Amino acid sequence: MSAEKKDFEYLMQVVGGFQGAKILMVACELDLFDHLPSPGKSAVDLAASLGVDSRAASIFMDSLAALGLLEKKNGKYSNSPLAATYLVKESPGYRGHILKHMARFWDSWSQLAQVIKQGKQADVGQDFLYDQEEGNRNFIWGMNDVGRDRALEVLEILDFSGVKHLLDLGGGAATYSIAFAKQYPELQSTVLDLPITLKVAQENIEINQLESRVKTRPGDFFEAELGHDYDLVWISQILHAHSESACKQLLDKTYQALAVGGRVVIHDFLFEQDHAAPLKSTLFAVHMLVVTEGGRVYSQHEIADWLKTAGFINISWKQVSDYTMLVEGTRP
Ligand SMILES: C[S@@+](CC[C@H](N)C(=O)[O-])C[C@H]1O[C@@H](n2cnc3c(N)ncnc32)[C@H](O)[C@@H]1O
Repeated sequence: MSAEKKDFEYLMQVVGGFQGAKILMVACELDLFDHLPSPGKSAVDLAASLGVDSRAASIFMDSLAALGLLEKKNGKYSNSPLAATYLVKESPGYRGHILKHMARFWDSWSQLAQVIKQGKQADVGQDFLYDQEEGNRNFIWGMNDVGRDRALEVLEILDFSGVKHLLDLGGGAATYSIAFAKQYPELQSTVLDLPITLKVAQENIEINQLESRVKTRPGDFFEAELGHDYDLVWISQILHAHSESACKQLLDKTYQALAVGGRVVIHDFLFEQDHAAPLKSTLFAVHMLVVTEGGRVYSQHEIADWLKTAGFINISWKQVSDYTMLVEGTRP
């Protein structure tokens, strides 16, 4: 392919990205993958079990086959190994919550041009995050879908020896607390989060039989007393949703909650110095622009400056994955 054609193909691929995204979102919305037990079904049979139009179903399912989510043989469709692992609710590897959660932002993203013109988040309600049980469960179990791999990567590069009491600030499904407690038998964790989110955390803690070492503490982290004398405060995927001043406020509170010699560790999206890479972080920064009042992705240098201003010493950072990082500081 000529370089010119390749460049044009790239543009078409980017602009057409919404089509594949929406097809996957709708397949999840319809719970389509749950309706395809082995050895599969024809489009007519699947349409009947989903209660949808059969002509539309066959066109739609061919696209899912081309996306690698279904397999089509002799006119019958079945789940591909990818879909069977991640998108069927009964699978132990199910991670459909995060896909359903992402789909909820479609209407907000449709206002991107307006957001950029006005510099304000989309005016689409976000009450599904904290005011609706199903929306909150998709969000918080979705964070667990993402975090369960990430927690193991963090454990490879972060040493929790000597940490007796950890505060997991905005700890969501307690994903990280659970992983840390499993690896460090001396570690006790307190997951501070909003009451609706803690219902999911509590379920996850019980599934993992860690009730005696991972506790929950309901509260709004901007308003509530965080507790004190923690050896480590873990702040994962929180700062990007807030303005710079709110982040600084949270780090000041964190400093007060730590024991002398205690550490704060921030886990978030990674930005290179000029904020123009990696791609996943830049896209997520736009997501925060669209769906939050003052959030965006912050670089390790910005976070390190805030830690210094809050009084922390021994500030350092480490890369976790190709687009996430840890920034750490100690209370002297
Ligand atoms: C993006 S999730 C991160 C969850 C978890 N730390 C992780 O990395 O998987 C943000 C978390 O912050 C919590 N949260 C948001 N605003 C909060 C507030 N004002 N006070 C306490 N928790 C809050 C949410 O309920 C959610 O669990």
